Amino acid sequence: MARPRTLFVTTALPYANGAFHVGHIMEYIQADIWVRFQRMRGNTVHFVGADDAHGAPIMIAAEKAGCTPQEFVAGIAGNRKTYFDGFHIAFDHWHSTDSPENVELSQGIYLALKGAGLIDRREIEQFYDPVKGMFLADRYIKGKCPKCGAPDQYGDSCEVCGAVYAPTDLIEPFSALSGATPELRRSEHFFFRLSDPRCVAFLREWTRSNGRHGGPRLQPEVLAKAREWLGGEDPQGRLADWDISRDAPYFGIEIPGEPGKYFYVWLDAPIGYLASLKAYCGRADIDFDALMNDDTVEQVHFIGKDIIYFHVLFWPAMLHFAGRKTPDQVNVHGFITASGEKMSKSRGTGISPLRYLELGLNPDWLRYYIAAKLNSHVEDVDFNPDDFVARVNSDLVGKLVNIASRCSNFLVRRFGGRLGEPDPQAIAGFAAAWAGPEAVARLYEQRDYGKAIREIMQYADAINQYVDTARPWDVAKDPAAGEALQRICSTAINGFRDLVLLLAPVMPATTGRALEQLSLTLPGWSAIGTPLPAGHVIGPYAHLMTRIDGKAVDRLLGIAEDAPAPAAGGQGGGKAAGSDAATRKDKDKAAVPGEGFVGIEDFAKLDLRIARIVSAARVEGSKKLLQLSLDIGEERPRQVFSGIQSAYAPEDIVGRLTVMIANLAPRKMKFGISEGMVLSAGHEDPERGTGIYLLSADSGAEPGMRIG
Ligand code: MSP
Ligand code: ZN
Repeated sequence: MARPRTLFVTTALPYANGAFHVGHIMEYIQADIWVRFQRMRGNTVHFVGADDAHGAPIMIAAEKAGCTPQEFVAGIAGNRKTYFDGFHIAFDHWHSTDSPENVELSQGIYLALKGAGLIDRREIEQFYDPVKGMFLADRYIKGKCPKCGAPDQYGDSCEVCGAVYAPTDLIEPFSALSGATPELRRSEHFFFRLSDPRCVAFLREWTRSNGRHGGPRLQPEVLAKAREWLGGEDPQGRLADWDISRDAPYFGIEIPGEPGKYFYVWLDAPIGYLASLKAYCGRADIDFDALMNDDTVEQVHFIGKDIIYFHVLFWPAMLHFAGRKTPDQVNVHGFITASGEKMSKSRGTGISPLRYLELGLNPDWLRYYIAAKLNSHVEDVDFNPDDFVARVNSDLVGKLVNIASRCSNFLVRRFGGRLGEPDPQAIAGFAAAWAGPEAVARLYEQRDYGKAIREIMQYADAINQYVDTARPWDVAKDPAAGEALQRICSTAINGFRDLVLLLAPVMPATTGRALEQLSLTLPGWSAIGTPLPAGHVIGPYAHLMTRIDGKAVDRLLGIAEDAPAPAAGGQGGGKAAGSDAATRKDKDKAAVPGEGFVGIEDFAKLDLRIARIVSAARVEGSKKLLQLSLDIGEERPRQVFSGIQSAYAPEDIVGRLTVMIANLAPRKMKFGISEGMVLSAGHEDPERGTGIYLLSADSGAEPGMRIG
C-alpha cells in the first residue's frame, strides 16, 4: 500500500448572486465522489468551498434589492445547506470570500507579489458613469456596434455580427446602469506583471510538470490551451499584464496602502480557497500554516471549462511568486446540457436542483447518472430524461438492488441471517467478469467515473446471472438443500456487498442503508473482493430504492401538471379495490420468479397496514367509488378512492378497521389523488356473484400496524 496522502480539495467558488443551478451541483457531485473515494483509500482529505461574494454585479444586485452587499450575500449563503444536505455533498467547511481570513491572505499575497517586483501601477482611461459616480466595467456599457451598427450591443462584442472591439469603439455609448452618456476618465490601476519573463518561464514549466501525486497537473486538452496562451516556445511569447484593481465604489477588499482602490474580484476569489481552509483549520484544530508548508500536502481544484485561464495562469503564478504551494491538479469538467441544449438560469431551461429535491426524487439517482456520464476529459455532459430513467431503473433497481432483494431474506428467514462459505468457483467466475477493485480505483482516481461504473455493472451482471442459474427460490423448496441455499445466497450477498462498496463514493445514502442491513460499517477499499467471514450475521432486507417514475421526471422538466410529492415513508395511491383486479393479477404473474410462485421477498415489498376508516363519502359523478380517509398512524390520514360503493353505505363503514397497501405509487384520478388501496375480496367470475367484501382485522389491532 502506498503512503496515505493528505489532500486539500476545492470546487470553484460560486458567485453569491443566485441560487445553485444544476451545473454547480454537477461540479460538487464530481468532487464529492472523488473525495469519498480518496477517504476509502485511507487518504486524509480537507474538502472546502465558499461563496464568491465580491464584485460589481453583486454590489449592483444588492442595491437593486435595497440591502447592503453583505446582507445580500448572507441571504444567498443561507440557502446553500439545503443543496449540500439534499445531494449529500459533504464539504468539511463552507466559507465566504468576504471574510477576515480572506482579507488577511489577499493583502498578504499582494504584498508578497509587490515585494517580488511584480506589481505595476499605470494610468488607464476608462468609461465613467457621471450619474452613478462609478467606473463602468465593459459589460455595463452599451451602444451601437462599430462594425454593423446594430443597436444595444455590449462593450466588448456584438451579438449580431460577432465583431470584437473595445468599449471606446462603440457608437453612441451609454451606461447600462443609468442610461447616462459615459465620460472617459483617467484612473490609476494596479497590474500583476504576467509579462515578466520570470512569470512566463515559470508557467511554461509549471503547466507541463507533474504534481505531487506523480501525474500531470493538467488534462492534455487543458495543457494544449495553456501552451497556446503561453505562446508555445516562442521567446517573444508574453502574457498580457493583468489589471487587478478597481476604483471605489466597489464591493471588495481594499488594497493595502492605496485608499479608494480595491482588488478586482478575481484576485481575491481563488485566495478564498485558502481562506476557507484556514477557517476550517481553526475550527478543526489543524495548524493551517504547517499544513500549507508541508511539502507532501496536495492541492486539488475542481473547476468548469469557462474559468481555466484564471486557474492555470493567474492563480499558480500568484501563489508561486508569493512563495506558496501551487496546485497539484486542476481538474476541469465540461458543462451540463439538457437534451443537448446549453442550460442557463437566464434562459430558464434545464433542471432545477431545488425542484428535484422538492419533488422527492432520490439524490443518489442524479449522483449515479452524472457519475455514469463523466469522464476525465473536458467534455459536456448531457442530461437526457429518458436515458436518466432507463439507466437508473435498469442499473440500480434491476441489477444492484435486485441481488439483495432476491437473496438476503432467505438467509434471514432460514439461517438467522448467518452467512456461510461462498462458492469458490462462482467467486472465481465473478473475478473474470470485470477488471477488479484496483482497476476501478484507478478509474476513480482519474475521474473516469463512467468507465468505473461500467466495470462495476459488469460485476453486477455476473452476480445476477449466477443467481438466475442457481435459482435460490427453487432450492428453497427442498428442505434438505439448506446448505446449498445458504451457499448460493452467501455468494450473492458477498458480491452485493462488493458492489455496495464500489459504489459507495457515488451513492452514499443508498450504500449506507445497504451496509446497515448487512450489519457493516464502511470499510476501506481493500475490503473489496474479500468475502465476509462465514458466520457474519446480516439483517433483513428492506426496500433500498424505488424505480424512477417517468412522470416525476416530466414534472421536474416542467412538462407535466403538478401532483403532490409522495409522502415520505409510504407512497400511497393506486387502483380502487375491486376495480380491474384481473389486469393487476396478470401483471403480478409476469414478475414472479419460477412457476407462478413469488418469493417471500416479493411479498415483503408490499407495505400492508391496518387502517381505520376515519370518514367515507360518495364521490359525485361516480357510481362505483367511495372516497375514504384512512388513519394508518401517520401525521395525516390518507385519501383513497375505492370501488366499493355498490356494497357499502359510507356511514356503515366509518370507524372500522381494514387493510391497506400503503406503498402503492400515488395515482391521479379524475376526482383527486388516491394514496393507496384497501383490500377486499370478490369472485373472479362475475357469474358467481358481484359482492365485494372488505377485509377487516380482529379487535386489538391498531391503525398503522404492519401486516406480514
Ligand atoms: N465565481 C467564479 C469562480 C471563482 S473560483 C475562485 C465562477 N462562479 S460561477 O458560479 O459562475 O461558476 C461556478 C462553477 O460552476 C464553475 O466551475 C463553473 O464552470 C461551473 N458551472 C457553471 N455552469 C455550469 C454548467 N452548466 N455545467 C457545469 N458546470 C458549470 O465562475
Ligand atoms: Zn455588429
